[in-house]
Formats: sequence, structure tokens, C-alpha cells
Amino acid sequence: MRIALPLLALTALACHRPDGATPVISGKEMFRACTACHGEHGEGNATIQAPAIAGLPDWYVESQITKFRTGVRGAHPDDYEGLRMRPMSRQMMNPAEIHSVVHYVSHDLKPVKGAKLVKDGDATAGAASYATCIACHGVKGEGNLATKAPPLAQLPDWYMLAQLQKFKKGIRGANPNDVTGNTMRAMSAVLVDEQAMKNVIAHIGTLNP
Ligand code: HEC
Ligand code: HEC
Repeated sequence: MRIALPLLALTALACHRPDGATPVISGKEMFRACTACHGEHGEGNATIQAPAIAGLPDWYVESQITKFRTGVRGAHPDDYEGLRMRPMSRQMMNPAEIHSVVHYVSHDLKPVKGAKLVKDGDATAGAASYATCIACHGVKGEGNLATKAPPLAQLPDWYMLAQLQKFKKGIRGANPNDVTGNTMRAMSAVLVDEQAMKNVIAHIGTLNP
């Protein structure tokens, strides 16, 4: 409890909003509601299919939480993992709380590269198809705010495979209100089958932003 107070003060300062309001609960406190699935340090948990979220850009984390809250992501009946995340996003009651947990996840937690769990990917073949991804996700998979494309290099390989399959099947990114998801859904067509997905993921695994 002794360290909680300065942290609260810091987070409150960092999250100071133009209207002067400060969040009641610090981002660190709020993050406790996330650790059961995303891990103590936001490193993710493959067993329950919760991805690493530590160090993802604040604009991306906030956009995804908003999508889950509004049912633009995670509401498709076949999106089992999304359906688990959706109620969590709705526990955050106000914009200040969302902002403070987003700030904590993005700026206080450091990205962790997980173990490689996807086998049989051919990184050389994947490098060729990654050429298509560069325009939005960057040469080193570092992401790009201008295109609203998140960094890929720090994402778990199993999670990327699951998401590429979801985009392709229209389980993610098909909602008409999901503008950036619609963009990525169109791009998933470039990857003709699961092997092509594994190959590009193997290449992304070699990138170091
Ligand atoms: C009950 C388990 C569970 C809890 C608790 C949980 N999440 Fe999630 N979260 C998931 C799962 C599973 C996914 C993956 C959804 C998918 O496959 O589309 C996810 C996805 C996400 C994503 C999207 C990541 C990306 O790369 O697009 C963000 C951001 C996120 N969670 C943030 C949070 C935050 C912040 C909290 C705490 C307030 C939280 N989650 C609590 C299970 C959980
Ligand atoms: C025209 C721009 C564009 C191109 C090209 C593109 N993407 Fe994306 N991608 C996006 C955007 C935007 C998102 C975020 C979607 C959202 O907001 O839900 C995204 C999301 C993703 C995600 C989900 C990340 C997460 O954290 O959940 C993966 C994986 C991904 N892209 C892989 C790829 C791969 C692999 C390629 C190349 C074959 C590619 N993308 C090409 C724009 C693009």
C-alpha cells in the first residue's frame, strides 16, 4: 500500500484531462482486473488465448477496448475469445478509467516476446508476402499510427494466427462500423491459406523494431 499512493498520484498526473477530472482508480489498480487472463505483466497466456498487451501503443489499446465495449469487435457468435474479452471491457465505467488503464498497459508495462508456439512456418517464403504488410505495419513490424495498424513484432505467434483466421472468416473486421478492421479484413485475402499465414508469422518473428 505504501507504493500505491505515489503511483496513484503519478498516474493521475499523467492522465490529467483538459476538464481537470482525474480518474478515481489508478491504471495499476485497474489492471488487476486484467491479470487473470493477460498475466501479471501483460505478457499474455496462450492456454486461455489472451494475448500479450504490454507496451502496445495507447491509441491501439484504447481503440480495441472501445470496439469491444460497443460490440464492433468480440460480438460475433463464433468469436469465443472475443466474447470473453467483451464483458471485461464493459467493466470499465467511464472514459477516465479506460484512459488510465490504457496508459498503464501502454507506458508502464514493457513488451515481452513470448515463446514461439506456431510450428512449420517458412520465414523466407513469409518475407515475400510481408512486403504487402509493410505499407501499414512498417518494415520492422513496428506499427503506424497514420494507418492505425498496430505493431506486430511483439505479438504472440499463436495470437496472430488466430486473428488472421478470424479476419479471413469475417469473425473479426466484418462489422460495418469497424473501419480499420474492414481494412485489415480485405488484406487478409492476400494470405491464401493457413500455411501462408504461418509463413508470414515466421517472418514477423524475425523482426526487431
Ligand atoms: C477473462 C479473460 C480476460 C480478462 C480478465 C481481460 N481480457 Fe483482454 N482479452 C482476452 C482475450 C481472450 C482476448 C483476445 C480476443 C480475441 O482473440 O480477439 C483479449 C484481448 C484484449 C485486447 C486486444 C489486443 C490486441 O492486440 O488487439 C486488449 C487491448 C485487451 N484484451 C485489454 C484488456 C484489459 C485492459 C483488461 C483489464 C481491464 C482485460 N483485457 C481483461 C481476455 C481477457
Ligand atoms: C492497408 C493497411 C494494412 C495492411 C496492408 C495490412 N494490415 Fe494488418 N492491420 C491493419 C489495421 C488498420 C489493423 C487494426 C485493425 C483493428 O483496428 O481492429 C490491422 C491488424 C492486424 C492484426 C491484428 C493485430 C492485433 O493486435 O490484434 C494482424 C495479426 C495483422 N494486421 C497482420 C497483417 C499482415 C500479416 C499483413 C500482410 C499480409 C497485414 N496485416 C497487412 C492494416 C493493415
